[in-house]
Amino acid sequence: MYKILEARELAANIYLMEVEASRIAKRCEPGQFLIVRTDDEGERIPLTICDYDRGKGTVTIVFQIVGAGTQRMAKLRAGDYFQDFVGPLGCASEFVSEPLEELKKKNILFVAGGVGTAPVYPQVKWLKEKGVDADVIIGAKTKELLILEKEMEAAAGNLYVTTDDGSYGRSGMVTQTIKDLVDEGKHYDVCVAIGPMIMMKFVCKMTKELGIPTVVSLNPIMVDGTGMCGACRVTVDGEVKFACVDGPEFDGHKVDFDQAMRRQQMYKTAEGRAALKEEEGDTHHGGCGNCN
Ligand code: NAD
Ligand code: FES
Repeated sequence: MYKILEARELAANIYLMEVEASRIAKRCEPGQFLIVRTDDEGERIPLTICDYDRGKGTVTIVFQIVGAGTQRMAKLRAGDYFQDFVGPLGCASEFVSEPLEELKKKNILFVAGGVGTAPVYPQVKWLKEKGVDADVIIGAKTKELLILEKEMEAAAGNLYVTTDDGSYGRSGMVTQTIKDLVDEGKHYDVCVAIGPMIMMKFVCKMTKELGIPTVVSLNPIMVDGTGMCGACRVTVDGEVKFACVDGPEFDGHKVDFDQAMRRQQMYKTAEGRAALKEEEGDTHHGGCGNCN
């Protein structure tokens, strides 16, 4: 059992929880994720790690209510427990294993969309701790939905906030700010974009035009998180990959976003899963228990 030390609402339907999980805190790196379950009845929910404190033995998660499972999670309070808190899963961000001297020469741009700001934070913080200042764009629909602005301000070299409705910061979507920054004379060697799939698709379209290599973190539907069930199947550079073990980070210019978004929708129903089983043949796996 994993005790919740802090639970608070960051914005409407978006919650932060700090959880006692010393083994994960000791081993996790930026970019990795975990799978949580409230109790026997709860569904398995994959969440990218938002922060960790190796000394305290805690891991921080941020989630948005999107269904019954996350609704159940949102009811938990400090002092309550998660039954399962499994991780760290997936591969760490590539820069973690890059020589620091090389990393320090790079101009890195992070693009965080909505709840995707949470998984961007530990990456920017890790770089800051190593002496690398990155530029960060955070996009939210409105001022009220903006999260972790103060934390990001402390970790980023330069922070640019955008809101779709212009209620705070720059007006418009993150893609507009990427273009504006480049037009203003900024040069970036690499972009890391994390947020809704549609945002990552359009950020990649923009950065491809601008010639900026781009990494994205995919969060398709996951069940086991260990490469067995096939739920998180994505196509990258024409090859079948499983986001939970091969990712979650991939070269964004090679991801088939349209297929990933279509699959995300189809996987929700038994009929859709049956259709995917036909389409995907051997690579479907089918071990998720939903589609035999
Ligand atoms: P949102 O819909 O509020 O979008 C956030 C920002 O993304 C917007 O403010 C905008 O700047 C940008 N954006 C959205 N659509 C765009 C487009 N078509 N072109 C260019 N920019 C665009 O975000 P939200 O409601 O917080 O998103 C929730 C989704 O994010 C969920 O589906 C969740 O699964 C996903 N998510 C992904 C990750 C991840 O690791 N990739 C992490 C957390 C959440
Ligand atoms: Fe990736 Fe099951 S969640 S294969």
